[in-house]
Amino acid sequence: MRVYVRAPGEASDVEHMPAGDVTEGVVRVGQTIRRPHQPQSLAVAGYLDWLEDAGFEGAPRYLGRDAGGRDVLSFVPGRCAGALPETWVQSEDLLASVARLVRRLHGASAGYVPQDHPFPPRTVPTSTIPTTTVHQDPADLICHLDVTPQNVVVRDGLAAGLVDFDLAGPSTALRDACNTAMHWVPLRDPADAWPGWEELDPFRRLRIFADAYGWDREERRRVPGIAIDAAALSYDRMHHNAATLGGGWARMWAEGVGGLILRRRGWLEANAERLTGALTD
Ligand SMILES: Nc1ncnc2c1ncn2[C@@H]1O[C@H](COP(=O)(O)OP(=O)(O)OP(=O)(O)O)[C@@H](O)[C@H]1O
Ligand SMILES: [Mg+2]
Repeated sequence: MRVYVRAPGEASDVEHMPAGDVTEGVVRVGQTIRRPHQPQSLAVAGYLDWLEDAGFEGAPRYLGRDAGGRDVLSFVPGRCAGALPETWVQSEDLLASVARLVRRLHGASAGYVPQDHPFPPRTVPTSTIPTTTVHQDPADLICHLDVTPQNVVVRDGLAAGLVDFDLAGPSTALRDACNTAMHWVPLRDPADAWPGWEELDPFRRLRIFADAYGWDREERRRVPGIAIDAAALSYDRMHHNAATLGGGWARMWAEGVGGLILRRRGWLEANAERLTGALTD
């Protein structure tokens, strides 16, 4: 086990970080972040080590565990969106920079195969919602899978870092990029728009994301279907986690996240052609 020893003179004052949905007790201590140790922590640590060796500077470093057993990660300076993303998060330059950062993450992740600590399998119940494609592409890349506005560190108006690798694991670059676009465009029913986000044009914003990430024509054609399938999977997974893990998952479920996901799926289906058009015209 890697043991983190505080650097001499390092500040020890504790600052509580904005609460996320699931992980409680994330605090900043000096230039570090302390998080509860979790079943996937060592798998995440291995991935963060690989990213560091690959020269990817937009991720925290895993520094070990402190005397209380908590994971210690380097603090990535900058600011993140709050639970309801503020209007500064709408910047199109920021949106494009998020796409470029995720593209760089995918480049840096290529070739990574977890050795000592595999990612715990994510148990997903049999789907209750039909998916549109018969088979999914096999997972061929370890990636972040939760690039929300709250998990991107912004400096000088541009995406500089990614934090919160709790959901990282095997998937595909296309699925991770679609998931990122879903959070950042965002792709959701207009009835569920965040306050101050009602007037944004999701078609224009998805195109900005696509151009900045660099999806080819075939990938652009597949995006709506992948987003629709992801909504079905996400519905089942949230439902399952709420029932089996409780905590923040149960709270989100009680607050109606299931309905939000189903409305998103409905909006994506109703607008699939228009989305493809915006991506390919
Ligand atoms: N390494 C880091 N550097 C800078 N800020 C961080 C770092 N890790 C976390 N933060 C800040 O703390 C906030 C909460 O941390 P984090 O995202 O890791 O936990 P969480 O969102 O509570 O977890 P979950 O999404 O699993 O519920 C982040 O949104 C970000 O503002
Ligand atoms: Mg988070």
